[in-house]
Amino acid sequence: MSMATDSATSGLHLVGKLLDPASRPDPYPVYAEFRALGPVWVEEISALVVPGYRDCETLLRDHRLSSERWRHFDAARDADPYPPDAPPSVRQPWFLSMDAPDHTRLRRLVSSAFTARTVARMEPYVTRLVDDLLDEACEQDTFDVVSGLAYTLPMTVICHLLGVPTADERLFHGWSAQLTRQLDGFSAPGDGEEELWAGGMVEMHRYINELVADRRRSPRRDDLISELLAARDGGDVLSHDELVSTLVLLLVAGHETTVNLIANGVLALLRHPGHLAALRDGQPKASVLVQGDGQAKASPLVQGDGQVKTPTVVRGDGQARTSAVVRGGRVTADAVVEEVLRYDPPVHLTARVAREDLRVGDAQAPAGALVILLLAAAHRDPEVNPDPDRFDPAREQVWHLGFSAGPHFCLGAPLARLEGRVALDAFARRVREPRLVADPPPYREHINLRGVSELRVAHGGRG
Ligand code: HEM
Repeated sequence: MSMATDSATSGLHLVGKLLDPASRPDPYPVYAEFRALGPVWVEEISALVVPGYRDCETLLRDHRLSSERWRHFDAARDADPYPPDAPPSVRQPWFLSMDAPDHTRLRRLVSSAFTARTVARMEPYVTRLVDDLLDEACEQDTFDVVSGLAYTLPMTVICHLLGVPTADERLFHGWSAQLTRQLDGFSAPGDGEEELWAGGMVEMHRYINELVADRRRSPRRDDLISELLAARDGGDVLSHDELVSTLVLLLVAGHETTVNLIANGVLALLRHPGHLAALRDGQPKASVLVQGDGQAKASPLVQGDGQVKTPTVVRGDGQARTSAVVRGGRVTADAVVEEVLRYDPPVHLTARVAREDLRVGDAQAPAGALVILLLAAAHRDPEVNPDPDRFDPAREQVWHLGFSAGPHFCLGAPLARLEGRVALDAFARRVREPRLVADPPPYREHINLRGVSELRVAHGGRG
């Protein structure tokens, strides 16, 4: 058997192991096996799987790769997945799945409404909401962190930001749970999932179309839909279908990911009580200024021991350089958030399509093939993060691609960081003697947006 066949065989074997629900609580040993194998072409799924940090980061910026995954899947399917009476906006791709120049144009228009100021203005609201949620949760002897905090917070925040009526929030729960299966990367047309997510997509588009029509009739001053309706870049505006598709993207991306940041963060802290105690006793305030365009500035931080340090630089191009935000055993919630994004990230992979024949290391992929970038495996690459399997918010530098890199760097990163920081900080300070009821907790099926379905915590009251 040749070397190439050997690695292809083990590549397929590892894909099988990753897809196995038994791997969901701890996929990291499988990722280590992928890294040992290096980039690998897996013929059976027509995909090049890339697990190393430097390869992933380079490829996220490589113009030979396209984000237009829908073209790849459209070519593979026999029929249109949507019913004839679906609103036309359902066929308008998200800008997440577009390339320049269309992606650049849409991203610029959306960024002009979804700014750093918009996010900064949310902080008092987010803080109040977290306090209320924890007050309510702590009334019971045990509570589920997912339904009580991690899911409800980002869902309520994104609905508030967009101006979706609170009474309708529950509708999104079902729809977006169906949609997120589509983001699993390894699922393909014809695997039985398609009808499910296409149905959720159509329902959600119908709803948002109506909401937009309503805002056109009676614009408001205080929600993002109205701001996006008014968004201008020179003479350019968002078309109706572009606006609806963008709102669907913001709603799904706005909570299906942040839920995992908060829940994975709480889980990591409960499994590492020393860090939980350090966070509880540490600095309450932000030490990172992150701007709405994803660019971040370092802000000087006065430590509890009086030392001043310029702590964190998180660059919008995805080069996350986080220096330690810790002195004298104190940990900030910012540092915990960055370490969770590395150690147990909300998004495990992303995919691109090769525009031309591609070689990565010893592996080759033909033009048109899928390239699967295993971000969660890359974060544990010892070449960039020493002792990568250790959860350590005090590490000197954190390298992660949790928000991707390059032109598609997460537009919502400042909001996600804000929600993660406020939620984890409040959990550490306000929930006394928290303990996990089940370890490992149950996990959802998703491979990509991987996270727990329930995280039950017992506690000794509210602080
Ligand atoms: C893109 C992660 C929260 C909106 C992305 C990408 C990643 C990501 C990995 C890029 C995928 C790729 O390169 O193919 C996350 C994580 C989050 C989070 C881990 C929470 C912890 C949010 C929030 C919003 C948001 C709260 C909005 C309210 C977006 C948008 C894009 C995006 C609009 C598309 C950007 C583009 O294509 O230019 N996110 N995200 N995300 N995210 Fe997030």
